[in-house]
Amino acid sequence: ADYARKYISYASEKIGDKKVLCALSGGVDSSVAAVLLHKAIGKQLICIFVDHGLLRKNEGDEVEKIFREQFDINLIRVNCAERFLNRLSGVADPEQKRKIIGEEFIRVFEEEAKKIGKIDYLVQGTIYPDVIESGAGDASVIKSHHNVGGLPDYVDFKEIIEPLRNLFKDEVRKLGEELEIPKHLVWRQPFPGPGLAVRCIGEITEPRLNILKDADAIFREEIEKAGLQKEINQYFAVITDMRSVGVMGDERTYDYTIALRAVTTTDFMTGEWARIPYEVLDTVSRRIVNEVKHVNRIVYDITGKPPATIEWE
Ligand code: XMP
Repeated sequence: ADYARKYISYASEKIGDKKVLCALSGGVDSSVAAVLLHKAIGKQLICIFVDHGLLRKNEGDEVEKIFREQFDINLIRVNCAERFLNRLSGVADPEQKRKIIGEEFIRVFEEEAKKIGKIDYLVQGTIYPDVIESGAGDASVIKSHHNVGGLPDYVDFKEIIEPLRNLFKDEVRKLGEELEIPKHLVWRQPFPGPGLAVRCIGEITEPRLNILKDADAIFREEIEKAGLQKEINQYFAVITDMRSVGVMGDERTYDYTIALRAVTTTDFMTGEWARIPYEVLDTVSRRIVNEVKHVNRIVYDITGKPPATIEWE
């Protein structure tokens, strides 16, 4: 509470009547940074939320709702799913996907920033482990390793503001709760910058992306229903590029295989596959196959890291 109060008064003094821009991703860090700044300077903070269509099911709408309705933050949501899909069409290589998404993200952000005109400051949700780069207890190191670029050089601004620079992840979460950011967002599991692109194995197509979103939503719902969300550090679905034969009623099917991935880890550098109870896996499997068209097989990834990585791409 003290940190928030002190930071808010410091920031409102420092920024005065200047304009501040923030790239909001819906992740914990950028969300907390944005709300903190909003408390300090209100509508002088402008958030740009680039919705590249690679977020999880309904996530774009949820982010918009929280920041626009609950906090009344000046938010620009850029819906550019089609643009990203077009750029990614025909691309199967994971690093190529990351590169395209990173570049396109900056391009979109830059275009929107230019429309706003003069900006004085840019807010970033950098946290302490990002700064020290040895990041115990967090996926930050890997994040900075994977994510191409980072923002800057385009728009003309004076300075970068990093309100969370001295905080560890758990301190950021605590601050988020104090600021009344919804719990599910504050305790959100890590989600890669390139989003579902790296969970849609091989070439990304809109139908496969939608299958993935639906399957993933069911998996997450059942993990939460079983009360396992705190003990499993990351859990998600992957759509493979493999199809196999199945049987549904009297019909033969030839459909996709969904893989479920769930890991327990403290630092995301190494990890174990989560020992999810069979009954929970069974429910998830039945539900996905029954509720999501074009899926006829579910597999559970039982590989640790190393030798496997957490993500499949
Ligand atoms: P891996 O798959 O390398 O993942 O075991 C370790 C952690 O990093 C996350 N991850 C990413 N995060 N951009 C990100 O921001 C990426 O390109 C990326 N790739 C993996 C992954 O979700 C896990 O938490």
